[in-house]
Amino acid sequence: MKNKIEKIRDEFLKQLAQVTDNETLRELELKYLSRKGEFSEIMHGLKDVSIEMRKELGELANTVKTEMQTKFNEISRSLENYGKKSEFIDVTLPGEKFTNGHIHPLTLVQNEIEDLFTSLGFMIGDGPELESDYYNFTALNVPPLHPARDMQDTFYIDSKNKDGQYDLVMRTQTSPVQIRLMQKYGAPLKAIIPGRAFRSEATDSRHEHTFYQLEGIMIGKDINFANLKNMLEIVGKKLFGQNTELRMRPKFFPFVEPGNNGEYTCSLCQGKGCRVCKYTGWLEIVGAGLVHPDVLRAGGIDPDIYSGFAFGFGLTRLAMLKYNINDARLFNSGDIKFLEQF
Ligand code: PHE
Repeated sequence: MKNKIEKIRDEFLKQLAQVTDNETLRELELKYLSRKGEFSEIMHGLKDVSIEMRKELGELANTVKTEMQTKFNEISRSLENYGKKSEFIDVTLPGEKFTNGHIHPLTLVQNEIEDLFTSLGFMIGDGPELESDYYNFTALNVPPLHPARDMQDTFYIDSKNKDGQYDLVMRTQTSPVQIRLMQKYGAPLKAIIPGRAFRSEATDSRHEHTFYQLEGIMIGKDINFANLKNMLEIVGKKLFGQNTELRMRPKFFPFVEPGNNGEYTCSLCQGKGCRVCKYTGWLEIVGAGLVHPDVLRAGGIDPDIYSGFAFGFGLTRLAMLKYNINDARLFNSGDIKFLEQF
């Protein structure tokens, strides 16, 4: 028995001396020192020997076990330190560069306006970019062959419906979603509709075939022009500062009556006159008006009971003014140098 104890110790120490990694170290611990290890077996075996022998062997076993455990701890500690030393950090190396994504300037402006309107109880609506001729024009009081269709250069889609008609367009404005929301939610209704619109334009620094608008509509009992004016004033002050004033001038849009162009004090020259506002001091920013009775009817709403206002911002134009961007084509360019500035 005595021999056996010593043999276990010698073997253990021999193997321990060769250990270079933590895994083998754990294996040794399991094999020799754990509760199910070889040493425990010896201790159990002690109960079968005579009392004197038990005393002597017990003492020996304890000493040996302590010796083994001490050695084991030593090696275990040195292995840990060894691992640490190899993690040498060269502080003179250039750091790792983390590149962050950026929020697109159009999204920034859109978020700002969405925050304002949702705080006023408006919902955010959405509709298809590939739109039917009916929603984009007819339901908005622009019947087929009406000259008002010429106000917008339209991308017509080269596919006929079952009646042999071309009836799909890339929406030229976000206004068709007015009708869709009226049909879906009825009156009263408070919604804004941000989204992409498309026009077959010759592109230059102020025109793009793909651009963003933000439409707004409010329908209820007794909604009038003063409500519209108030709303547009709130938006102007939020976007361009408290000193911003609103000027409304008549303009024809088939789906509103009366219709107007909303202009704000030029934010670049504070109304003094500059190149951007063409020395007028005003910036043309928003089309608006009271929703035409025919449009309410197309949306399934009775114009004898309800009235409403609608407006449409060019989001692209707003972003250009807010961030002093001089070319509309930059928005869709995917140019990293441009995008990283926001
Ligand atoms: N849809 C119009 C445009 O694109 C803007 C507008 C919206 C005007 C709502 C009046 C009311 O020019």
